[in-house]
Amino acid sequence: MKVITTIQELQKELAPYYLANHTIGLVPTMGYLHEGHQILAKAAVAENDVVVMSDFVNPTQFGPNEDYEAYPRDLERDARIADEVGVAILFAPSVEEMYPHQGGVTFEAGPASKILCGASRPGHFNGVLQIVTKLFQIVRPTNAYFGKKDAQQLALIEMLVRDYNMPVTIRPIAIVREEDGLAKSSRNVFLSETERQLAPNLYETLQVLQQNIASFNQKKAIEQIEAATKGRVDYIELLSYPDLQPVTSEDTQVILAAALYYENVRLIDNIIFKVG
Ligand code: PAJ
Repeated sequence: MKVITTIQELQKELAPYYLANHTIGLVPTMGYLHEGHQILAKAAVAENDVVVMSDFVNPTQFGPNEDYEAYPRDLERDARIADEVGVAILFAPSVEEMYPHQGGVTFEAGPASKILCGASRPGHFNGVLQIVTKLFQIVRPTNAYFGKKDAQQLALIEMLVRDYNMPVTIRPIAIVREEDGLAKSSRNVFLSETERQLAPNLYETLQVLQQNIASFNQKKAIEQIEAATKGRVDYIELLSYPDLQPVTSEDTQVILAAALYYENVRLIDNIIFKVG
């Protein structure tokens, strides 16, 4: 596996694949790889001639008071893991390489970016769509892999590709969980020991809510989650998926999505399921 840090070098490496009309898989990540990322990469390796994984903590998707500086980083370990799962190129550019110019064109995502995670992270999804667009332009992948863990991100990327006619197929991948049900996340390292023990109750409560979805009540759901996790609920919402609108009798697929604050970390989780 090659670790590449510049766009020019990356495109030189990919040139033969473009010429031969080979399929290119892209797995965008912010690094500090865990099993969730590995499953994305494995799917990409199975389905493409060559796989590029990007490893870049994107500053434009972090708010001024968020954890950009503290976000965990370990490129050496990432390179080992990416290599093991069959990634051919790990693209780990610097911030200067990705953003050499200031004050140019940026994205303004629509209303679906302002709810759920977007409500407490203003501008977050504009930054996500900006970096994902850049990666699509730089790599020109046939297929790009995204986890359902970040279901709102996935829905917005699907909208981006649809609205801007981007020639890439988005491949959604199921959430990977710890044995006790906690969704794997690079940020789980910020949980205290007690929080780590209580955190799986988020998913457990979501499952209970799903089983009783006909009588879903947001206020009660907040109480239930807070009692079970001892965290503070940021949001718990039931919406149609992937359009993220209030549920109507017409909808067949919905998402039950939640975010939870602990002392030093905010966790998200969701269940996407069919109704009716
Ligand atoms: P990051 O949080 O590193 O996640 C990279 C990809 O891994 C995302 O598509 C995410 O949904 C997926 N992923 C993370 N945890 C997962 C889990 N437990 N199960 C399944 N998939 C999981 O998401 C980002 O980075 C960034 O916003 C990015 C898209 C790279 C843009 O900067």
